[in-house]
Amino acid sequence: MTDQTQESAHLRSLSDPNEFWAELAQDITWDRRWDRVLDDTDAPLYRWFTGGKLNTCFNALDVHVQGGRGDQLALVYDSPVTDSVRRFTYTELLDHVARFAGALLKLGVEKGDRVVLYMPMVPEAVVAMLACARIGAIHSVVFGGFAANELAIRINDTQPKVIVSASCGIEPNRVVAYKPLLDKALALAENQPQHCIILQRPQLQAEMHEGRDIDWHDALNDATPADCVPVDSTDPLYVLYTSGTTGVPKGVVRDNGGHAVALKWSMKAIYNADAGDVFWAASDIGWVVGHSYIIYGPLLRGCTTILYEGKPVGTPDAGAFWRVIRDHGVNTLFVAPTAIRAIKRDDPHGELLNPQDIASLRALFLAGERCDPDTLAWSQEMLNVPIIDHWWQTETGWPIAANCLGFGQLPIKPGSPATPVPGYDVSVVDEGGREVPDNDTGQIVVKLPLPPGCLPTLWHNDDGYKSSYLETFPGYYVTGDAGYRDEDGYLYVMSRVDDIINVAGHRLSTGGMEEVLSSHPAVAECAVIGVQDALKGEVPIGLVVLKSDAAQDADDITAELVRMVRERIGPIACFRQAAIVRRLPKTRSGKILRGTMKSIADGRDFRMPATIDDTTTLDDIAGVLTTIGYPKTKVPAAT
Ligand code: COA
Ligand code: AMP
Repeated sequence: MTDQTQESAHLRSLSDPNEFWAELAQDITWDRRWDRVLDDTDAPLYRWFTGGKLNTCFNALDVHVQGGRGDQLALVYDSPVTDSVRRFTYTELLDHVARFAGALLKLGVEKGDRVVLYMPMVPEAVVAMLACARIGAIHSVVFGGFAANELAIRINDTQPKVIVSASCGIEPNRVVAYKPLLDKALALAENQPQHCIILQRPQLQAEMHEGRDIDWHDALNDATPADCVPVDSTDPLYVLYTSGTTGVPKGVVRDNGGHAVALKWSMKAIYNADAGDVFWAASDIGWVVGHSYIIYGPLLRGCTTILYEGKPVGTPDAGAFWRVIRDHGVNTLFVAPTAIRAIKRDDPHGELLNPQDIASLRALFLAGERCDPDTLAWSQEMLNVPIIDHWWQTETGWPIAANCLGFGQLPIKPGSPATPVPGYDVSVVDEGGREVPDNDTGQIVVKLPLPPGCLPTLWHNDDGYKSSYLETFPGYYVTGDAGYRDEDGYLYVMSRVDDIINVAGHRLSTGGMEEVLSSHPAVAECAVIGVQDALKGEVPIGLVVLKSDAAQDADDITAELVRMVRERIGPIACFRQAAIVRRLPKTRSGKILRGTMKSIADGRDFRMPATIDDTTTLDDIAGVLTTIGYPKTKVPAAT
């Protein structure tokens, strides 16, 4: 790399982004060179490498086969829940992808068409994503833990020509029938695909809808392997939905050119991973981590990537991760802190961890939620490799702040994801948009333009992109996170400024859950708050006020509310508790004091809001929370 340190690269990326990114773009194979590196003609909507043409799948697969890596493993599928392992070399993966791309073409899928994937963690999901990229179709993966209603919302927004799904997913405690959820989603959706391609898994046979549904293997029959279709650098590669502040998810768009450049470089610069290394992001393809670091990043770099269908614990035990590292020689592991907390809970002294099993491991990266210092310390003690907290979000697609190992490791400060990554001009500002002094808390923003790879806009919604992210502080992108920066430039990302909560590394909107609760006929008003949880970081609980004429039994109502959230949002919301209260505490202007209720539930000291309309309500709330088990422990006030 040209730059010797993270700091010098960071400075150069901001002072001359055109030169910085043009140099890195040479690592990608282009069908046509770009005309402009940074295109600001439509600012504040920026584009990268306009005029350029490329194919992301070509850069992820063909380039390595042509360059002599055909026999190297590209993908290892390790599935303790089905007791199977499958390995694919780059040549084999390319063959599967080209044939499935041919199958999509045969069904009329063309460049720019959308393909929704509702898939468990199976190799066919990876094949389908790359096949879309190969023919210039735009994939949109919906996480399997979402309910039919959420799937329907995404189908309506992307209007896919084809949906690819499977008969089932496999959770440790049950087989999840995906196909009935897909059928239900299609019954709810206004927009219908022309076809659904269904992977029948041996654990469960799905019923097929004559004429519409096609078996995965039948779709491949007679399919001619498809060549790569060059697309514009600015053409979308995928749309991935993430929670917004309402129940309506945001369709984050990822382009092809900037994404390929940024991700390939990030593998070396941030993770210090090279071609031939074994990289394992223990996430799910339904999340951004899965898109960026199970699939695109490692394959663009020529690594071997691991696709793990299992959990950190219970499949079969807390030694599962160490077994996978040993069996496949994993060099870099990337997980959410919640996974480490789960392992620590089940095996606090690391009795299932034999140091020889993890001899290949060079670093552990943590992201998805704040890494609490205890988890960091435990990981350090157990694994004896650098434990790197890094901060990013679906919108950016790759890390905003990290200890970039490719430049040599910076000192680790517990609780901090270190300093901004080259390309990101990060500031901490007050409500007026003024930079705050070191160590003062404020909103974390990124000066525009965002670097390549970050969202250029929301799907078919430039106005929503501007209003959600760009208008609060003109010239800046609002991350939605609050925190501070210390005197060494290290960032500390402490909390969200909106109603997003983080449950086991999954981002969920409490507003979305409130919409579900409010739709219950007995509910007059409600609030959902995220309360501290030792394993998952946060879990949601609902506090509801009933209509005066509500006839049902209170326990029946709360049970119904829990069921409704599970049915409409999905099990992944982990919404397991609701309680009935007489009133919700509000300011005199009518704003519900969710933050104050959260402090009571977490056992934190809090300042009585000056504008509260009736303080006795808080006592009632505290009483109700006690009856459902909160606070669990007394913790010191947040600073
Ligand atoms: N399809 C269908 N259902 C799913 C699912 C999927 N792909 N993934 C999870 N679910 C369900 C689970 O079965 C569970 O349902 P239940 O209420 O019937 O038990 C619910 O959603 C919650 O799942 P989960 O968060 O996995 O909770 P858990 O208690 O089973 O496991 C952890 C706890 C910590 C082990 C687990 O959350 C975990 O591995 N987290 C890591 C998350 C992660 O990798 N995030 C990536 C972001 S970087
Ligand atoms: P998602 O878009 O689902 O990846 O969630 C992104 C959000 O998770 C961020 O905006 C943060 O609130 C939180 N997050 C992710 N990584 C970290 C981290 N390392 N430290 C603190 N918060 C994090």
